[in-house]
Amino acid sequence: MVGLTEIDLKAHVSNAFIMIGDKDYWGLGIGKQAMEYVIHKAYKWGITEINLEVFKSNTGAIKLYEKMGFLVTGGNGDELQMQLKKGGL
Ligand SMILES: CC(C)(COP(=O)(O)OP(=O)(O)OC[C@H]1O[C@@H](n2cnc3c(N)ncnc32)[C@H](O)[C@@H]1OP(=O)(O)O)[C@@H](O)C(=O)NCCC(=O)NCCS
Repeated sequence: MVGLTEIDLKAHVSNAFIMIGDKDYWGLGIGKQAMEYVIHKAYKWGITEINLEVFKSNTGAIKLYEKMGFLVTGGNGDELQMQLKKGGL
């Protein structure tokens, strides 16, 4: 499951999420492909900034987001805030 939430077309901003429920499908490149797809869709709709939050302990997801070009913009307790600006993919 992958998608955008809190889409604000006027501000050109949204949040993103991803979740592959079955662990047997982790590490096969699906997450990367799905994120690339949703990022391209977002850019097509005029979104230029994608934000998300991830648990600091979720090193796999953080690696994926970093590979997509997301940068850490802040932290709050157990969570990191990450952001991708258009041009990062
Ligand atoms: C996070 C998640 C989406 C990653 O999806 P995935 O299909 O396993 O990731 P991919 O196989 O596409 O890997 C993408 C890149 O991230 C890296 N990566 C992914 N998981 C990793 C891990 N556990 N450790 C290190 N690197 C990892 C891969 O090395 C890969 O880089 P590469 O292209 O250079 O090889 C998946 O593990 C998941 O759904 N987890 C549970 C839900 C979750 O944590 N969602 C995020 C909440 S914020």
